[in-house]
Amino acid sequence: TLNHELVLHKGFKLIRGTHDPDDVDQIFNLEIRDSDVFVVTYPKSGTIWLQQILVLLEANGDVTAITKINNNSDLIPWIEISGSRQAFITASSPRMRVTHLPYQLMPLALSQGKGKVIYVARNPKDVLVSYFYFHKMASMLETPKDFNDFFEKFVRGDVFGSSWFDHIKTWYSHKNEMNMLFITYEEMIQDLRSAVERISLFLGKELSDEQLANVVKYSTFDNMREIPQASYKQVPVNLLNHHQGRFMRKGTVGDWKNHLTVAQNERFDKLFHKEMKDFPLSFIWD
Ligand code: PPS
Repeated sequence: TLNHELVLHKGFKLIRGTHDPDDVDQIFNLEIRDSDVFVVTYPKSGTIWLQQILVLLEANGDVTAITKINNNSDLIPWIEISGSRQAFITASSPRMRVTHLPYQLMPLALSQGKGKVIYVARNPKDVLVSYFYFHKMASMLETPKDFNDFFEKFVRGDVFGSSWFDHIKTWYSHKNEMNMLFITYEEMIQDLRSAVERISLFLGKELSDEQLANVVKYSTFDNMREIPQASYKQVPVNLLNHHQGRFMRKGTVGDWKNHLTVAQNERFDKLFHKEMKDFPLSFIWD
C-alpha cells in the first residue's frame, strides 16, 4: 500500500515507501568510478530530459536503442530508490544515475573529485507549478488541496526534496570540489543544441555532427512526448495516474505567471532575494 507521508531523514524529506532511509544512508560511502555520472536535480527541474539526452548520447544518437527498454529509468535509475544502490555497485561502466538527493547524502567521493555531476537547475517558480501538477498525478505524493495549499508547502520546504533553496545552495557551494557541469532548464529551452554540446563535451563523448543532431532532435519536448520510454507513459497507472495529467506537461518557461497571484509572487521574490543574496546565480524567469 502506498503511504502519503514524507519522512524526514538527516534534514531532508524523503518519500516513505519509495525511499528507505537506511538504504539511502549507505549511498554516502559508495565507491565512485571516474566514469560515473550523476544527474542531480531538485524535483521537476529537467531530470527526465537529461535521462533522454544521456541515453541518446550513449547510443550515438540512435533513437532505436530506446525501443529495447521499457523506460529510460531502466538505463538511468534514481540512486535513492529502494534497491537501486545494490544494482549500482555491480553495474558495468559507465554507470549513469539521476538523483534528487542533497549534497550531504550523496557519495563523499564526489567532492574528492571522483565521477561527474551534472546539476540541472530550473527557476523555482516554474518548479513550484510543475511540482503542483505532479502531485496531482503521483500516487506516492499527497494530492494538494489547491494551488494555495501547495504554494505554502513549497515555500516551507514541506515536500519531497525539502527546500529548493537549500538544495541548490548546498550543491552549488561545493561545485569547485567536484567535476560539475551546472546547467539550467531555461538554457536548454533557449538553445538545446548548445546544451547538448556542452553535456557531450563534459562527458568526453565524441559524436559526429549528424549524431549530435539526432540527440537534439529526439530530446525536444514534442518528440520526447511521442516516445513512451522517454515521457514516462509506461509507468503503471497505480504509480502515475495518467488520467490526472502528463509527466511531460507543458515544457515552457514562465508558466508561473498563469498560477501565482500578485501577492504570492511578491512573497516569493522576497524569499528568493533573502535566500539567494550571497549566491551569484541568475535565472531566466520568462
Ligand atoms: S521529476 O519528477 O523530478 O523527475 O521531473 P523532472 O523530469 O525533473 O521535470 C519534469 C518537467 O520537465 C519538463 N520536461 C521538458 N521540458 C522541455 N523539454 C523537454 N524535452 C522536457 N522533458 C521534460 C516536463 O514537461 C516537466 O515540466 P512542466 O513544466 O510540468 O511541463
